[in-house]
Amino acid sequence: MKTNEDSRHPNLPPMGAQDFSEIEDWPGYFGAVLGKGARDTLIGALNSFEQEGFKNGFAVDLAAGEGRDSLELLRRNWSVLATDNHPEAFPFLWARVPEKLKSQLTTKEVSFCDMEFPDCDLVNASFALPFCEPTHFQVLWNKIVASIRPGGRFSGQFFGKRDSWASISNRSHHSQEEVLELLNGFEIEMMREEERDDPPELRKPKHWQIFHIVAKKN
Ligand SMILES: C[S@@+](CC[C@H](N)C(=O)[O-])C[C@H]1O[C@@H](n2cnc3c(N)ncnc32)[C@H](O)[C@@H]1O
Repeated sequence: MKTNEDSRHPNLPPMGAQDFSEIEDWPGYFGAVLGKGARDTLIGALNSFEQEGFKNGFAVDLAAGEGRDSLELLRRNWSVLATDNHPEAFPFLWARVPEKLKSQLTTKEVSFCDMEFPDCDLVNASFALPFCEPTHFQVLWNKIVASIRPGGRFSGQFFGKRDSWASISNRSHHSQEEVLELLNGFEIEMMREEERDDPPELRKPKHWQIFHIVAKKN
């Protein structure tokens, strides 16, 4: 499809990560973001743990994709269960894990609706939850909350209802009030709302409304 479209419109900018995300072409997305650094929300959560003197925890990296955040967790000597439902995600991750850290990583191919969460210190869900079908969202969220120990953290993103992709039927988008309701029982350490329009020169400019979250469970 990409090839045909490009040959019909030779002046279109190349597909970027967001174009692959929109159509859920995950291998395309993995290739487009490969080598990018860990998400700010994960860094914020890990820094908060370190400020408390807590090290070497156990994290679930939900919908880890090509593994940018899992790599950072491993680099900081955490143990990681990285999950994703796309079979092409984990080879990107394993290929970049230093030999001495491999024993700290487990990967599991599983969909949001079939997730079983072990007890953990951190659930990291970077740009993941909006891709959960609305019918499965609340059960998934309940499992996330139950798995995090008191004093543990959630880091990740929710997409708002004013985001262009809110109209895509299999996506889960939340208003600020709904996000706050979901985080009941957590102390919110970061809630940064990003709302902006893409510049027109992008291939398919969209409106973004993202809530970047770090929250500590009471
Ligand atoms: C936008 S990417 C985010 C990847 C990575 N966490 C990051 O921050 O770049 C969304 C990820 O969700 C995964 N995904 C999509 N639908 C899923 C589902 N139903 N169950 C589990 N993972 C899913 C995709 O394979 C992809 O890796």
